[in-house]
Amino acid sequence: MCGIIAYIGSKRAESILLEGLKRLEYRGYDSAGVAVIEPDGHQHVCRAVGRVANLESKLEAAGGFKGSVGIAHTRWATHGGVTEANAHPHTDDQLGIALVHNGIIENYASLRTYLKEQGHVFTSETDTEVLAMLIGELYDPEQGVDLEKAVQAALREVTGAYAIVVTCEREPGVMVCARKGSPLLIGIGAGEYIVASDASAIIAHATQAITLDDYNVVKITREGFRTSTVDDVELSPKVMKLELELGEIELGAFSHYMLKEIYEQPNSLRLCMKGRLDKREGTVVLGGLEEFSKELVRSKRVILTAQGTALHAAMIGEYLLEDFAKIPCECEYASEFRYRNPIIEEGSVVLAVSQSGETADTLAALREAKSRGALSLGVINVVGSTIARDTDAGVYLRVGPEIGVASTKAFTGQVMVLTMIALFMARRRFMSPEASARVMAQLEQIPDLIERVLDTNDQIRKVTEKHVERDNWLFLGRGYNYPTALEGALKLKEISYIHAEGMPAAEMKHGPIALIDDGMPVVFIANQGPQYDKVLNNIEEVRSRGGHVIAVATEGDKQIESLAEDVLYVPDVPEALSPLVTVVPLQLLAYHAAILRGHDVDKPRNLAKSVTVE
Ligand code: AGP
Ligand code: GLU
Repeated sequence: MCGIIAYIGSKRAESILLEGLKRLEYRGYDSAGVAVIEPDGHQHVCRAVGRVANLESKLEAAGGFKGSVGIAHTRWATHGGVTEANAHPHTDDQLGIALVHNGIIENYASLRTYLKEQGHVFTSETDTEVLAMLIGELYDPEQGVDLEKAVQAALREVTGAYAIVVTCEREPGVMVCARKGSPLLIGIGAGEYIVASDASAIIAHATQAITLDDYNVVKITREGFRTSTVDDVELSPKVMKLELELGEIELGAFSHYMLKEIYEQPNSLRLCMKGRLDKREGTVVLGGLEEFSKELVRSKRVILTAQGTALHAAMIGEYLLEDFAKIPCECEYASEFRYRNPIIEEGSVVLAVSQSGETADTLAALREAKSRGALSLGVINVVGSTIARDTDAGVYLRVGPEIGVASTKAFTGQVMVLTMIALFMARRRFMSPEASARVMAQLEQIPDLIERVLDTNDQIRKVTEKHVERDNWLFLGRGYNYPTALEGALKLKEISYIHAEGMPAAEMKHGPIALIDDGMPVVFIANQGPQYDKVLNNIEEVRSRGGHVIAVATEGDKQIESLAEDVLYVPDVPEALSPLVTVVPLQLLAYHAAILRGHDVDKPRNLAKSVTVE
C-alpha cells in the first residue's frame, strides 16, 4: 500500500533513502518525501507529488541533505488528495517530530478535533498528520515521556492499521518504529539499521532483519535497539535471515517487471515444484503441512479466501480440491467473509491465498476463521510475511519476488501449489499412487508447455493490436477456466484501463449478451476440455451478434478457426491443469494492450502492489 524506508547509522542517509524508495515504489507511487535530521540539528523535509524521480530532482536542486538519520515514504493515498501537503513525512507543529506511515488511523477525525482544541495547527488532509501531532502533544521528556514513550502512548489512543517510523530533532540519535496490520522490517547492519516495508529495500545493506508483530514498538539507536509493546512491556526481538538476492529484484534485460515475471514462469514453476513431487511414491511432499496431515485428511470443509488475482487462483483451488480430494470447498472474497459472521463448524480448514502475505482483508478473514476454531493454512509468496506467520501451517510459492503490480508468476505459482495441496490431500483420502503419479508427470510438463506459449508472443501482440482501441471486452470460460477468464479480465483492466468483464461462458446469455455490439472483442477460453462443444455454442451466439471472437484454443484444433476472428493456440493439457497454460496468452494480451495504450505497465494508476488497508 505504500513504501517506507528509514536509516540510522554513520553514512549519509539521503542516497540510501532514495535507493530504497526506488525499490519500494511498486508499493505505491502517488507522491514521495524524505525527512533528515541535518547537522544543524533541525529536521529538514522535502516532498514531491508523482514519482520518486521528481523528489530526487527537487532534492538535487535544493542541495541535498547531509544528515545520517532519515525517514522516507512513497505514498498510496487513502485520506487526502495527491498533493505535496498530503505527502509524507508529516511533522508536528512544535517539536520537530517527523513521521512516515503505512495504513489508516481510523479515529483520526476525533483526535484531530481534540488536537485542534489544544491549539495544534494542521497543514494536510491526512490521517497520518494527526498521529504526528498526537505524538508531539504527548512528548514531554522533562516528565520522562521521551520519543519512545510518546509513540507508545499515542498508539494506545489510535485505532486502525499502521506501520510507522518516527524521528525527533530533540533526540537526533533515536528512531522509533511500530506496526499493527501493516508490514515493517528492520535490517540489522554494522552500526546501522535500515527500516523498510519489505526486504527488497534492505537486502543491499543487511542479511538479517528484525520482524515486528502487531503492537510491537522498537526504539533504535546506532548502538542497538529495544523491542517492547505499546504498553512498554519489553520483548525479545525476532530476527530472521533475509533469503532475497539482489539479482532477483533487478529488471535485467527486460523492459518491464511484468514481462520479466511472465517469462520467468517456466522456471518459477520448476522451482515451485522442486523437491515436492515424489513420483515413486506417488505422493506430494509439503513439509509445511505434514504436522497437520491427519487434521487435513479428516477435515470436512475447506474455505479458501483471498482478494484479486489470488482469489482467482483460490477459485481454481476450489475446483481442484473437490475434483481430486473430494472435499467440500467454498471460495470467498476475504472482505466479505470477514464481516458476514461465517459459520465455521468443527473440521473446517481456512486456506488464505496471498502473494504478499500482507493483504488486510485476507489477514482479517484468516484471523476471523481461526478465532472460530478453523485450522488455518496459507499459500503465500513472501517468506515471513504477516499472513505466513499467522497461519498454523502453509506452503510458500517459491516463485521469487514479484515486483510488477499486476500479478502473473504468483498466480501460476498459487495454482501450482493449490494443485499440489489437492494431490497431497487426495493421496491421503481416495487417490491411488498411480493416479497421483500420473498427475505429477503432467505437472512436470507444464513449464515446457508454457515456454511454447511464450514463443507465440508476437502473434499475441498482433491480435492485441487489432482490438486495442475497443473500450469494452468480455472474457468467457467454463469449468476450471471460468476463474481464468476472470483473471484475464482483471489483467486487462488493471494495466490497460480498458473495461473488461469476466464470467462463466453460459452466464453471458443471462444479460451481458446485451453488451455485444459490432466488433466487440470477446475472449473465449476454448481449449478442448469437457465443455468444449458448449463453448462453441457460446461462440456462435457471440458471432451472430457481431462480436469479434478471440479464442484461446488447443494446438491442432482446426474447427475453431472457422468460428473465431483470432486464435491463440496453447498446447493440449488435462483440463484440471489447463489454467496454468491458458492464462499465459491473457497475461501477454494485457501487457501488449497497456504498452500500445502508452501506460506504465509496472505502476498502473491508482494501484499498489499490496493492499494493506481495508
Ligand atoms: C493482481 O494483479 C492485483 N494487483 C491484485 O488483485 C492482487 O492480486 C490482490 O491485491 C491480492 O494481493 P495478494 O495476493 O498480495 O494478497
Ligand atoms: N493513510 C495515509 C495517507 O493517506 C497513509 C497511506 C499509505 O499507506 O500510503 O497518507
